[in-house]
Amino acid sequence: MDASNAKAIWKQGIDHEVTFWRAWLNGRGGEFAEDFARRMDPTLPVARHLNRVLHHVTAPEIRVLDVGAGPLTAVGKRYRRRPVTITAVDPLADLYDDLLREAGVEPPVRTTWCHGELLLERFNPASFHLVYSQNALDHSYDPVAVIEQMVALTQPGHYVVLEHRRNEGENEQYHGLHQWNFDMVHGHFVIWNAQGRTNMTERLSDRATVHCRYVPRAKWLNIQIRVRVIPR
Ligand SMILES: C[S@@+](CC[C@H](N)C(=O)[O-])C[C@H]1O[C@@H](n2cnc3c(N)ncnc32)[C@H](O)[C@@H]1O
Repeated sequence: MDASNAKAIWKQGIDHEVTFWRAWLNGRGGEFAEDFARRMDPTLPVARHLNRVLHHVTAPEIRVLDVGAGPLTAVGKRYRRRPVTITAVDPLADLYDDLLREAGVEPPVRTTWCHGELLLERFNPASFHLVYSQNALDHSYDPVAVIEQMVALTQPGHYVVLEHRRNEGENEQYHGLHQWNFDMVHGHFVIWNAQGRTNMTERLSDRATVHCRYVPRAKWLNIQIRVRVIPR
């Protein structure tokens, strides 16, 4: 997969993404007003389906990294009675700051700048209990590199969780930032486009176990990657 060409195409898609979020913030979510309200709620509990990946975190403070968070992270801010410390990053964070100011919206968690491809330049390995991304990595220019770094940032024994629509590049006809398809093939997590194909389940097999689930009604692919504890 040619990452430099992918980055050039990525840059051309930025305006499309910013236009979407400007309308969404100015309209307080528009037809997705409930989603907007949930994201603005500082007491929002973590979504129930994430309980399984958080229940064995014993630390008093649960640390979550949301990659490609957009202007308002969708991650819940509390887990049972414990606070969740969310670090939200996005390569368009500076542009989102302008949009938030313009729309008069003060986010409960401020998204800060980082490309998913540069995570290890900003954060130390094994810093988070959950490294999460929703509907974002198929918008990146090198999703394989992003996921490898997400795995490195996750504490052994804990999880990377990815929630994306299946084959979104194809669905969106590669419009805007959509360059990639995330798919489940014979139970394996596969990333593909016309330039190539990477079996992520095999690629990560030396350090993590990948579990894929497809929810047909929502056309949603849920991928849980458990980072292995390497015995000393
Ligand atoms: C459809 S939005 C989803 C935002 C948020 N995760 C949500 O579910 O609302 C896609 C996001 O992916 C971000 N993105 C694009 N390229 C990225 C990259 N290289 N690394 C991380 N995020 C990226 C975009 O800037 C955008 O905010």
